[in-house]
Amino acid sequence: MTASELLAEIADVGRDARRGGYSRHAFDAPEHDLRTWFVERAQQVGLDVETDRNGNLWAWWGAPGANAVVTGSHLDSVPGGGAFDGPLGVVSALAAVEALQAKGFRPAKPFAVVVFAEEEGGRFGVPCLGSRLLTGTIDADRARALRDPSGVTFAEAAAKAGLDVDRVGADPDRLGLIGQFLELHVEQGRGLIDLGSPVAVGSTVIAHGRWRFSFAGQGNHAGATLLADRVDPMLPAAETVVAARQLARKLSDARATVGRLVPTPGGTNVIASTVDLWLDARVPGTSTPQLVEEITQAARAAAEAEGCELAVTRESYSDDVVFDDALRRSLGEWLGNPPELPTGAGHDAAILAGFVPSGMLYVRNPTGISHAPEEFAEADDVEAGARALAEVLERLAR
Ligand code: GLV
Ligand code: MN
Ligand code: MN
Ligand code: MN
Repeated sequence: MTASELLAEIADVGRDARRGGYSRHAFDAPEHDLRTWFVERAQQVGLDVETDRNGNLWAWWGAPGANAVVTGSHLDSVPGGGAFDGPLGVVSALAAVEALQAKGFRPAKPFAVVVFAEEEGGRFGVPCLGSRLLTGTIDADRARALRDPSGVTFAEAAAKAGLDVDRVGADPDRLGLIGQFLELHVEQGRGLIDLGSPVAVGSTVIAHGRWRFSFAGQGNHAGATLLADRVDPMLPAAETVVAARQLARKLSDARATVGRLVPTPGGTNVIASTVDLWLDARVPGTSTPQLVEEITQAARAAAEAEGCELAVTRESYSDDVVFDDALRRSLGEWLGNPPELPTGAGHDAAILAGFVPSGMLYVRNPTGISHAPEEFAEADDVEAGARALAEVLERLAR
């Protein structure tokens, strides 16, 4: 099947009627259906599928072994995400395998298609959880204790899904099998729109992380409490949102986002007792922690002025990543020197890049929008991406 045909097969899985787009989260029903679908489709092209100790799926073309050529992406989404972020890399990998088989190619090296778990951190808060666990980039106990918004721990959800949670964690033997990792992904900004090419080679991923700001005040009555008597955590939270934008604007190319803010108890006529907000901050180079420190200072000043308490917790952080030089050069050469693009989006390939030679291919997104229903790739570009992936996989695996 072509990549577009495979994408069409899952077009109805996990649609989010309320938000638009898709909501597919670790261990939920849509994600389970997508995994089942992946196993069936991988088996149909003769791959042997196994689940690793961290819930990542590995579909092997031939016997597993060292120096493997590995490609893939993820099937989970952000809340209300697009159809391409993640699935495009998975369907392109399956389509590439089928195209290579059709021309009689058999890999000389071990070869696997992988689906990483919880790439978006949409349920348990830490992005690239599957690849972080595999590489030991997150402590297993910390991962087991992560909670989703309803209080269910990763350990509980994973156990319910059939994982042996005692074995969750760094998997050096499996990591040691990867010779090269390649992830194809939809482009997530405007980077490829005007370059006249359907495909780009990834160059860098900018440093990024997530911080939780918890403001505590005094829950109270919205009508009976005079303004002078309030200790309202929504005030410093709002000031933090604005400070994040203002402080990030002072740096070149910085991004700071508050995409999630939760007042408790959350009633129209109730002054909140606590407000939690999550800051996503990304700055090329080494300045992200400094930016977050400045935002934290602004948040503390605003909290103090209102008489609120503030606790700040770092939930994840990844340094700048430059993808493997030699692999990048090879990809460029083999594909006729398409553009090279940096990205502000995080990826499993960027986690793996700290351990094995890794690279990325991007497919043009004409809307320049991602993590939203408008994310898009033209069918011709999807096929061009899958062909490019097949081309480079063939060269890597022979
Ligand atoms: C994931 O796509 C991220 O960069 O947030
Ligand atoms: Mn994403
Ligand atoms: Mn993605
Ligand atoms: Mn991502």
